[in-house]
Order: sequence, then structure tokens, then C-alpha cells
Amino acid sequence: MIQGERDRFSSKFGVIAAAAGSAIGLGNIWRFPYVVGENGGGAFLLIYLFFIAAIGIPVMMSEFVIGRSAQLNPVGAFKKIAPGKRWHLIGLLGVVSAFIILAFYTVVAGWTLEYLVQSVKWMLFSDKIGFESMSPEQVGSFFSEHYASFVDGVWRPLIWFVLMMFFTGYIVISGVKNGIEKYAKILMPVLLLLLLVLVFRSLTLEGAREGLIFLFKPDFSTIKEAPLKVVIEALGQAFFSLSIGMGTLITYGSYIRRQENLANTAVSVAAADTFIAIVAGLAIFPAVFAFGINPGSGPELVYITLPVIFQSMSGGLIWALMFFLLLCFAALTSTISVLEVIVAYFSEQLNMTRKRATILAMLSVGLLGIICTFSSDFFSVFNASPDLMLPLGGFFIVVFVGWFLSGDKTRDELSSGGRHRISYYRLFVFLVKFVAPLAIALLFGLGVYSRLISLFPSLA
Ligand code: PHE
Repeated sequence: MIQGERDRFSSKFGVIAAAAGSAIGLGNIWRFPYVVGENGGGAFLLIYLFFIAAIGIPVMMSEFVIGRSAQLNPVGAFKKIAPGKRWHLIGLLGVVSAFIILAFYTVVAGWTLEYLVQSVKWMLFSDKIGFESMSPEQVGSFFSEHYASFVDGVWRPLIWFVLMMFFTGYIVISGVKNGIEKYAKILMPVLLLLLLVLVFRSLTLEGAREGLIFLFKPDFSTIKEAPLKVVIEALGQAFFSLSIGMGTLITYGSYIRRQENLANTAVSVAAADTFIAIVAGLAIFPAVFAFGINPGSGPELVYITLPVIFQSMSGGLIWALMFFLLLCFAALTSTISVLEVIVAYFSEQLNMTRKRATILAMLSVGLLGIICTFSSDFFSVFNASPDLMLPLGGFFIVVFVGWFLSGDKTRDELSSGGRHRISYYRLFVFLVKFVAPLAIALLFGLGVYSRLISLFPSLA
């Protein structure tokens, strides 16, 4: 890219598709259902929705405001808007989070490739394996065994991880408009259609009702058992799913054209993201209950439930193939947004070419990812890290916009220089000044405390 000619998203739909592409991914389809499952269902969902609206949207708008007004990566943006202060450390924290998230996320994204290839194999050899004649329970245990032996293995997860990294790097090198935007615009709508087909199948299974009750009927008893864990995981999941708290949307914000309405964009992205998470829940939970799978199975939940749904459909393996293909694309539109944070930082702050920055970032994330494929402990620690790291970043981002950035600048950015009405402005200020920082600080403090207690029980 030539200096001075900053690459941009070319249309309103392109911006929403790219930002929603970042938000929608494994977080919605893989992580959301199992986190909901582990934390008791409906009551968790309610808290999650509250966090999306009261904290998530304000943080997202703040990131857009920072990114678009500075026209730079997260580190550069804070340096430019608040020169001489230490705010840019928030940007650095974001870059560090990006490394960690990208490492484990790309590993899970690689699993979709495994399942993609396996669905072809299962399709070709289905009579040998005897799928047609298996009961759902047998199919369920077949897949959990497959999952366990695959994830515990070393080479296959590693190869898929490297391949996924490679695809991500390829798109990022192609740039914002011709890479990120182009792919997101096509792939996101197709994913939605396919998910809807799965929901239909799942809802028409016998025993589906139980799943709906689990997902939508708040039962506060799990929360009573471990209130801190539930609330913190809901907050962490809200941040993770919306891609906020680490500068991804500061970076994307810097590619948004001046005339675009940031509040509209943020609300549309959050709505699309939440909608897809709920749709994924609607595809998973009815089947989980219909087939007697444990909703608290953890990270493997989706990978054992979905194959059972596929098996119960006519032409199931073709659906499986399409689904894993799209899941893989959904993951890609997210991995590229995380990689873009690192690449924008390397290229703008450390003066590298885009290509060189991408290759360097891929190599370093690659090392971390390899550790994740080798050690499941590492993987779990990395997977749990967003729960605290992203809210921490989000805290400083809202404090910056609420207390440091001048009101004139914020209003100017949100209204695109007076072009859009900002009747919500006072509510926004109230949320970024008080509600979001206080809520995040409180939950973050409690979260750190509860983790310390579980590590060192003598502190209690
Ligand atoms: N939001 C993405 C998902 O739900 C993951 C992600 C997190 C992407 C943080 C970018 C930044 O899959």
C-alpha cells in the first residue's frame, strides 16, 4: 500500500460485513453454546444480553471513535490522540491479547478443517463405518472418541493450524478492500442461511422442547452456586464475541469512511452477532437434549452435537460438509481481524511493509499456536484469557473516551461532522463514563480475586 493512501472499506455494507465478520465466528458457534451449557442456560443468556447492550455496544462505539478519528492502529491511535501520555499502553495490551487469542483461536479454526475432511471421508465410506444403522447415542460416542483422539494427537491439529494461519495471512496480505471486505461480504450471508437450515432440523427433532427450555427459561440455581464465575464468563464471552477490548475495532474503525454512521454500525454488528449466537444455540440445544448429550460437555460440545444432527438428516454428510466449510470461513473472517491488529501495528509503528509485517506476525503467532496444539493446559489457559484480558482493555478504552477525549471530538466523530443525529448522546456518555467502567472494574476485581483464591485457597 502506498503511504498516505490509506486502504478503506468501500461501502456501508462492506463495513458491517467486515466488522460482523470479525465478531461472528467460533465465538458464536463453538464457544457460546458450550459456555451457556456450562453456566446453566437461560439465566446466563439474560446476563449476557444485558452486558452486550449496556457495556458491549458502548465499548464498540468507543473503539470506532478512537480508530476513525486517529486513522491509525491501536498503539499509534492513542499516541496521536493523547501524545506524551501512557494511553498507548492500552494499544500494546491489545496487540499482546491479539497474539494470545490468535494462537488458540486458529488452533480451533483448524479443527473445522479436520471435520471438513472427515465429513468427506465419512461420506465416501459411510456404509463401511455403518453410520446409517447407528443409534444417535452410538454416533455421539463415535464423535466424542474421534474428537478426543484427534485433539490429543499432535500432527493433525498442527497441520490444520498451519494451513489456517496460511489462509489468514494470504487474505490479510491482500489488504482491506480486496481481501477482508471482499470475502466477508459473500461468506457471512451464506453462513446464516445454512445455520437456519440446521435450526429447522434441530427444532423438529423429538424432544427439542427441553433444549428450548434450557436456553430460554432462566433458572438461577447454577448462578447461586458460583455467581462470580457465571457473571465473569458472561462478560468475557460478550467481549470475545463482539471482538472488543483489544483494538480490533479501533483498527477496523480506522478503515471506516468519514460519512458512515458509527452508532448504527455498532448496533447492527452487535445485533447480528447476538442473533447468530442465539441461532447457534437454537441449532445446538434442542439436539443436545433430544440425543441426551451433556450440555456441560465443554469445548467439544459443538463438535459432538452437530455430527449427530447431521446424521439424522437425509443427505446429512453434505450438510456437514457445507457447514464445516462455512464455519471455517466464519473463523477466517475473525482470524483475519485479529491478525490485522498485529499487522497494522507492525506496519505503521515499526515501519514494515504489509507483507513483511504479516509474515513476521504469522511466524510469531505460529510458535504460540504450536505450543497450544501440543499442550492442552496451555490451550485452556489461552482459551480462558479473554475473560479477563478483554474486559481490562475495554475498561481503559471507555475510560479514555468517557473521561479523556473531548466531548466535541466524540460528538463530531459520532455525528460524522453533523451529518447524523445523535439523540442518544447523553445515554452514551452516561454509559461510557459510569456504567461500563464501574461494572467492568467491579467484575474484573472480583474475577481476579476469585482466581487467586482458587489458586491459593489460604488467601480466603
Ligand atoms: N469475535 C470473534 C468470534 O466470536 C473472536 C474474536 C475475538 C475476534 C477478539 C477478534 C477479536 O469468533
